[in-house]
Amino acid sequence: METATDAAVAGRERAELPGAGASAPPDWQRLRDDFPILHQTVHGKPLIYFDNAATSQKPRVVIETLRRYYERDNANVHRGIHELSNRATRAYEGARERVARFLNARSAEEIVFTRGTTEGINLVAQTWGLQNLGPGDVILLTELEHHSNLVPWQLLARRVGARLAFVPVTGDEGTVDARRLEELLAPPVKLFAMVHVSNSIGVVNPVAEWCARARSKGSSPWWTAPKARGTCPWTSRHWAATSSSSPVTRPAAPPAWASCTADTNCSNTCPRGRAAAK
Ligand SMILES: Cc1ncc(COP(=O)(O)O)c(C=O)c1O
Repeated sequence: METATDAAVAGRERAELPGAGASAPPDWQRLRDDFPILHQTVHGKPLIYFDNAATSQKPRVVIETLRRYYERDNANVHRGIHELSNRATRAYEGARERVARFLNARSAEEIVFTRGTTEGINLVAQTWGLQNLGPGDVILLTELEHHSNLVPWQLLARRVGARLAFVPVTGDEGTVDARRLEELLAPPVKLFAMVHVSNSIGVVNPVAEWCARARSKGSSPWWTAPKARGTCPWTSRHWAATSSSSPVTRPAAPPAWASCTADTNCSNTCPRGRAAAK
């Protein structure tokens, strides 16, 4: 029987979660049923868990899939010729295909698994970044960025002789200053790196529009979406970022699991993208 979590993982939008039509609220009890950890009382009350941004709880389908894998199929992916290795490889590649559909990527070859957002960003900075940025180039960031979308660019800039610039945040709501963005997003900005949903103040940036604008100004957009997938429907393909690091981990997957969707150009400069594509 399909669970509420299966529906979400299959890539259908929130409106299709049980009871989540335009006016009906989601069927919380059915959603709770998917999460074994919630079937307990703490301090005499049914457990309600709010710390999802830090560590998400895992639905039964994830826990059981992991258990089944380790009990039956665990072996080297891509590097064995025996039955278990074949099964592990099929499961791994199957997961890439499902994630590609979930993110609306053009193909599974655009999906690169990393252990988290930070690793995904470092990977892009140290591969695509090293090949495409050089002395005098500018990396534009917003003041909303998480450390993990700042430090890799600082290190890269130091290494290749580029420099960082920041679009300021303005107003009580902490939105990015659109006027300054317009002024700053111009040559020699080579890369515009932006967060989709701010982890600190929850601002949702218009990243589709920003990606398009960056491209029209000759700069490559890069957007990180670790807080976004659960709440904002988006598609990596239509928004055409150079690449996007998006841990789908928070809703469903084990800790330290993320996927980096990259367009084929980016995958081709990324050793792991190339390896995964073989
Ligand atoms: C906006 C944002 N970027 C990056 C990260 C770092 O993610 P990770 O721990 O997967 O490297 C987080 C973590 O919560 C985050 O909220």
